[in-house]
Amino acid sequence: MGRVRRRRGYPFAVSERATAAQFVPDSDDLTVLAYAAQGCRGCDLHRGATQVVFGDGPRRADLMLVGEQPGDQEDRAGTPFVGPAGRLLDRALEEAGVDRAGLYVTNAVKHFKFAQPQRGQRRIHKTPSRTEVVACRPWLIAELAAVQPEVLVLMGATAAQSLLGSGFRLTQHRGELLRLPGNDFDGAVVVSPHPSSILRGRPADRDRAFHALVADLRFAADQRGR
Ligand code: URA
Ligand code: SF4
Repeated sequence: MGRVRRRRGYPFAVSERATAAQFVPDSDDLTVLAYAAQGCRGCDLHRGATQVVFGDGPRRADLMLVGEQPGDQEDRAGTPFVGPAGRLLDRALEEAGVDRAGLYVTNAVKHFKFAQPQRGQRRIHKTPSRTEVVACRPWLIAELAAVQPEVLVLMGATAAQSLLGSGFRLTQHRGELLRLPGNDFDGAVVVSPHPSSILRGRPADRDRAFHALVADLRFAADQRGR
């Protein structure tokens, strides 16, 4: 190993760049991966969170859904999509005729990022930075290699930009059959709105946004077996 050199003007030496890479075991066993993720120090988000929230679902699910990051309730439970966004997702899946038990569900970022609450207030979600999304990507790639879904659904801009690049504009590509650049995954990729964005949107827009999510989930499910 070379000496760590700090260049003037750089807050981090190059060897200290945020990444989960050195924590990800060379394994396609989800249990092994989930266990190792508990020890990840690939970026600073593990410091404030209660625990890592790894993906959940059967290995070899034919559909894999990716959200942004765990929320307050997911952080406490250790399971993705169990809070308000998860309940909305459950309703959308039901309306789309997709059984959640057959899906692998995960997030682009595995630790909860939040604004420090005032006393007695609940923790407010903060959008992960590009650095944190890129740092956490090796876990997502490892899950993709382990599950090998037929169809990958990227819900919201964070998940989409993690795998399709920071310039990707979700709204311009809904309803399209996409592919990932590189060799990480050669199955079908589709994008959808994020369940939380529907909850945060104006009440007048909620119905339309919810039905857009349902339509995208149905479209994704229909790509199986093609
Ligand atoms: N939002 C997400 O993106 N993921 C969760 O697990 C919960 C809320
Ligand atoms: Fe590791 Fe991802 Fe957690 Fe950062 S957010 S510490 S990269 S698991």
